[in-house]
Amino acid sequence: MFQERLTDAARRIQEHFDHVLKGLADEPVIHAMRYATEGGKRLRGFLVLEGAALHGIALERAIWPACGIEAMHAYSLVHDDLPCMDDDDLRRGRPTVHVEWDECTAVLAGDALQTLAFELSARPEVGGADVRADLALSLAQASGAQGMVLGQALDIAAETAEAPLTLDQITALQAGKTGALIDWAACAGARLAQADIAPLRRYAQAIGLAFQIADDILDVEGDAEKAGKRLQKDADAGKATFVSLLGLDGARSKATELVDEACAALDPYGADADTLRDTARFIISRDA
Ligand code: IPE
Ligand code: IPE
Ligand code: MG
Ligand code: MG
Ligand code: MG
Repeated sequence: MFQERLTDAARRIQEHFDHVLKGLADEPVIHAMRYATEGGKRLRGFLVLEGAALHGIALERAIWPACGIEAMHAYSLVHDDLPCMDDDDLRRGRPTVHVEWDECTAVLAGDALQTLAFELSARPEVGGADVRADLALSLAQASGAQGMVLGQALDIAAETAEAPLTLDQITALQAGKTGALIDWAACAGARLAQADIAPLRRYAQAIGLAFQIADDILDVEGDAEKAGKRLQKDADAGKATFVSLLGLDGARSKATELVDEACAALDPYGADADTLRDTARFIISRDA
């Protein structure tokens, strides 16, 4: 049931990307953008769609910010994989963008995906001017110097830090690098409805952290074939992760605690939020 809903959302998101990108120029940078938007679990887009459904928002409106956050995420991955960052040659089971094309194309495709994310979240189809401005403003805050980019910078800095990061520092790093976009995705439905974002924000903060802990655990003991990316890289690269600090068992129990917290945060929504509870459980049990 959960898996079917996720698969269905992923298909809708892909179809919508195809529709949005169809009219663009026949240039390598556009082909690279399209390539980077293909595949993936679509978890962030799914969170937008589920949060929107929870607030009675029509799919025709919610699909835009759902694709918007997936475009932002795709850009973050294209840049994360660059030689100057994590230097990865495989993503979603295929060569990374800079390997398939070149570094310039990867940088520019990432740039264009980032601006596409704002365009899709602020299109007239999304709703009234207040709602669109709120989505665009909060997306900017989640993606940049207070959010994802800051987290990525702390992640890279930690590789060469003299002392290992503390638990608080790792929590702050991960809240930026992974948490901020997940937070935006989970709260977007409430923003679309101009409703209180507080319960979804509590949920998002817990699943965001649990998501990155699961990613770090997968790096240690996952199956690269299923994950579609190179694994066992974090330790050698000197990455600061919950696994590096707490060990595998400590990281696993922290992730389980966070899922319980996430489910409890959804109490105000009752049984209507069961799919979001399933999403929290999926996040720590996934193999990709
Ligand atoms: C991977 O994200 C990068 C992190 C933020 C840890 P996902 O695991 O959601 O990647 P896709 O979108 O499914 O490929
Ligand atoms: C990437 O984190 C986070 C962002 C792209 C913002 P990782 O570097 O751990 O992601 P993977 O393991 O390469 O997917
Ligand atoms: Mg990285
Ligand atoms: Mg990486
Ligand atoms: Mg990782």
